[in-house]
This record gives sequence, C-alpha cells and structure tokens, in this order.
Amino acid sequence: MRHCPVWFVGGWRTRGRMTVTDTRRDATRRKSLTGYERTPRALVERFREEELWRRPRYAWHRLWGDLNPFPRSMRQVWDFAAGDEAYAAHMVNGSPDEATLRRTGAKMAERLTTALAIEPSHMVLDLGPGVARVGRELAPRVRRWVGADVSRKMLDRAAERMRHLDNAAFALIPGDGALPFPDALFDCAYAHLVYFHIDKQEVWESIREVARVLKPGGVMYADTWNLQNEDGWQRWLAEVEHYRGRRRPVHHNRWSTEAEMRTFAERAGLAPLACLHDSCWLQLIAARPFTDGTLPTLGDLSTLPPPAGAWYYND
Ligand SMILES: C[S@@+](CC[C@H](N)C(=O)[O-])C[C@H]1O[C@@H](n2cnc3c(N)ncnc32)[C@H](O)[C@@H]1O
Repeated sequence: MRHCPVWFVGGWRTRGRMTVTDTRRDATRRKSLTGYERTPRALVERFREEELWRRPRYAWHRLWGDLNPFPRSMRQVWDFAAGDEAYAAHMVNGSPDEATLRRTGAKMAERLTTALAIEPSHMVLDLGPGVARVGRELAPRVRRWVGADVSRKMLDRAAERMRHLDNAAFALIPGDGALPFPDALFDCAYAHLVYFHIDKQEVWESIREVARVLKPGGVMYADTWNLQNEDGWQRWLAEVEHYRGRRRPVHHNRWSTEAEMRTFAERAGLAPLACLHDSCWLQLIAARPFTDGTLPTLGDLSTLPPPAGAWYYND
C-alpha cells in the first residue's frame, strides 16, 4: 500500500521528480551495452546507417531481441536468435556478415588447434557451437567433429553451414544438461563463448559432463568473462549499471575467477593445465589424466588470449 500510488505513476520516483541517481540511471539505460543510443531517433538513424531496411527480417529480430520483453528459457533465446540467418550470426559474433563469421571462426579454429595440439585423428566436441562459426573451420582438420547445443534451431543453422563436410554430426542437449554421448568418446572438447551466458550451477554441470565424455588424456577448453582483469572488471561494472533495477535477460553475461574455474575442473576429475587470466577472458584448459596418471602435452598457448583491450577478435 505504501508504494502503490507512486508505483503506478512513475515507479520509485516520487511525484514525478527524479533524484540524481535516477537521472544517471536514465541516461545509462538509453544506451545498449554495446554503446548504442536507445532513443527512437537513434534507432531510426541506426536503421538507416546499417541499411536495415534492406533486411527487414534481420531488423525485426534485432529490435525484438534487444527489447527482450519476456523472460525466456535459454533454449528459447537461442532458438529465437536462430530464426534469421543474419541475426543468428549477429548473436554469436556481433556481426551479421558471413565473411566475419568465416574470418573469426578461422582465427579461433587456428588458436584452438595450436594450443590444444589437436590432431587429424581426433574426435572433437564443440559444446554450444551456435552456427558452427568455429566448427566449420575446425572440422576439416579432424577425424570427426560433433556440435552439441541446447538450441535445435542453432544446430539446424550449423548443419546448413557445414553441409559440404561429411565428418560433422550434431546433437541436441536435453533440458537436464546431460550430454547425449557415452563415456570417454572425445579427444578434445571446447566451449567457446558459451559459459559466460549460463549460471555457474550449469557451468559446473557442463564441465562435469565434459569430463565424463573425454577420453583419458583428452583435453578441454572453456572461456568466460574474467573478473580479475581490469578490462574484465570494467565490463562487469558496465553490466551491473546497465541492469540496475531491471530484469536481466536469461542469457545475460556472467563472470568468473581463476579459482572458481580451476575448482570446477578439479572437482570434475580434470587436471587444470592452465587458466589464462591476463585478458578480459578467463581461458581454462584442463585434461583428463591418462590411466597411469600422466598428463597430455599442450601446444603453444601464447596465441590463445585476445590482445589486451580487444574483444576476442577485433585485433
Ligand atoms: C554466443 S553463442 C556461441 C556460439 C559459438 N560457440 C561461437 O563461438 O560462435 C552461445 C551458444 O551456446 C549455446 N548454449 C547455451 N547454453 C548452453 C549449454 N548449457 N550447453 C551447451 N550450449 C549452450 C546457445 O544455444 C548458443 O548456440
């Protein structure tokens, strides 16, 4: 009762007057996390600048995805994202263009192959492949590549982009997160740009499942936003401010620390071989020990971290 009359006319603001904090928040909210103005005028300008009128379906997905009006499940978020080819690319990579997907995918495939010492005989799991940005470029280098995702529509997009490759397979992850594979199937697994979208309970369960499906001597790679790096911390603060007092979308960004990621790996029975933390990304590499307790040898890790100050690929 205390807040009722006020709530209906203007949220927590009293009698239409805004406090200093409210003014600051209001200014912040008009910008998207990527810095776009969210005023109607700015939206129209972006519409014209990016020539979105040429791609009405993509424009609609951008607008609806940005508004994010209802709470949705992770599956629904990514099924919706996959509803348009350009929007799916935009959601996994920040750009609607196939050329950018190919360029950044090739770069990450190269980095992973080098760091994890991926070989042509390997059986590789891509956890959360999205449109197979990385998988499309990595699959030709290995015996078999398998993409496992919670979104069936993303998998359809991935299959479409990889239809020229006969060593690719796709698997839907059910709601309980269990991977639909037998134990000890894969030489290598990677979850790139996936864990920063999911709660740590699911990260833990996912790492435990990856540990189960890795062969002895198998290696996993996973990344997430890094709370310990200054750039990572600034992004965290921006996110805190952006969603202050507002409902976060299901797939909002999450951050972690080296200790947390190492703990999850160790508790899952993996040996953390490295946890790179000098960029805004934490990059965990962990292995399932061989039966005699020895560990596999990694390749050159120096190519893995993005350059200082950069997002993953804008180098
Ligand atoms: C930002 S996209 C990244 C796609 C791809 N890894 C890339 O780098 O282009 C996140 C992907 O993770 C998938 N995903 C979300 N939660 C997941 C989970 N718990 N397990 C596996 N995949 C998940 C989404 O469906 C989506 O395809």
